Amino acid sequence: MATTSESDFDYVLSQRKAFDETKAGVKGLVDAGTKKVPSIFRVPPEKSEKKVSNLSNTSHVIPVIDLADIHTDASKRHELVEIVKRASQTWGFFQVVNHEIPVSVLEEMKNGVKRFHELDTKDKKEFYSRDRTKPFFYNSNFDLYGSQPALNWRDTFKCLLYPDAPKPEEIPVACRDILLDYRKYIMKLGILLLEMFSEALDLIPNYLKDLGCAERVFGICHYYPACPEPDLTMGTTAHADNDFFTILLQDHIGGLQIRCDDKWIDINPVPGALVINIGDLLQLVTNDRLKSSEHRVLSNHVGPRISVACFFSPGAEASLRPLGPIKELLSEKDPPKYRETTFTEYEAYFVAKGLDGRSALAPFKI
Ligand code: OGA
Ligand code: NI
Repeated sequence: MATTSESDFDYVLSQRKAFDETKAGVKGLVDAGTKKVPSIFRVPPEKSEKKVSNLSNTSHVIPVIDLADIHTDASKRHELVEIVKRASQTWGFFQVVNHEIPVSVLEEMKNGVKRFHELDTKDKKEFYSRDRTKPFFYNSNFDLYGSQPALNWRDTFKCLLYPDAPKPEEIPVACRDILLDYRKYIMKLGILLLEMFSEALDLIPNYLKDLGCAERVFGICHYYPACPEPDLTMGTTAHADNDFFTILLQDHIGGLQIRCDDKWIDINPVPGALVINIGDLLQLVTNDRLKSSEHRVLSNHVGPRISVACFFSPGAEASLRPLGPIKELLSEKDPPKYRETTFTEYEAYFVAKGLDGRSALAPFKI
């Protein structure tokens, strides 16, 4: 917390606790007519990078990849793998269209997320929790009690999608059917992407799947309420994802950006597209061949903005096994850049650190 004295610290903590206890999230503040961003959400001026100029005019270099012929045309597949490789090495981000998830499913997924977050607070409250082992829970700012200087203008629910989804009765009706439908599409696309990443690394197509990169998948479903003073707070602070890779569905509002040196590049919404990004774990196991990019979400006068991030992570057992650079990618010329760790150790560090703009891979670098 950005404080100068113990009493400041106590004050911030008590404010965060009071906010937590409402169980109504940021949406609750907006519903109550809040016209000024409360101090616990304000980014200290010295930490604010909002004014850094954007490179919107170069956003076209982050490719939108058309997967239409990938299963039928081998030379096309090879070409697409090359584009995925270049994007994953350079930006750690790309978008895909013709990914076989019908637009109607994408629309209903966004609607389901909106419906949940717009339930009456009394109905939504029963799902409010900070117990990360629950298969379905909702809260605001997973790192609410972390050391970051400001909270984010965002509420989130998280649903385990694989290896097992929650029992239907454990998922709120508002998003039950669509989550159970969406997970199947996401796994199919996830496996295809893992094949493409494996091929991009000159590994056999099943390599990354067999490594366990699709064992556990979470749907992390965000709701960014309209913000009365968007220049003072962030939707999501700069971070890299704590997974192998992420499939992100965003709506038409925009605000997602990735860092390129000291500039921020917009990932512009493309109708029907999904955003794919490399997470810290793929960067680690590929010894930096694929890049986990820092990204953030700006808050906005316009809202709510809805997004659904599907995180591909190691399964429960694999989380305890050593995780390090893939041996086939190492040589005398390419020595390991990371020491072996476990997902459990890495994740504990990520969560304790909170979203503060620093890489969670740093302690594992050799
Ligand atoms: C995330 C994330 C981006 C978005 O959940 O890690 O970066 O658009 N989300 O909500
Ligand atoms: Ni992210």
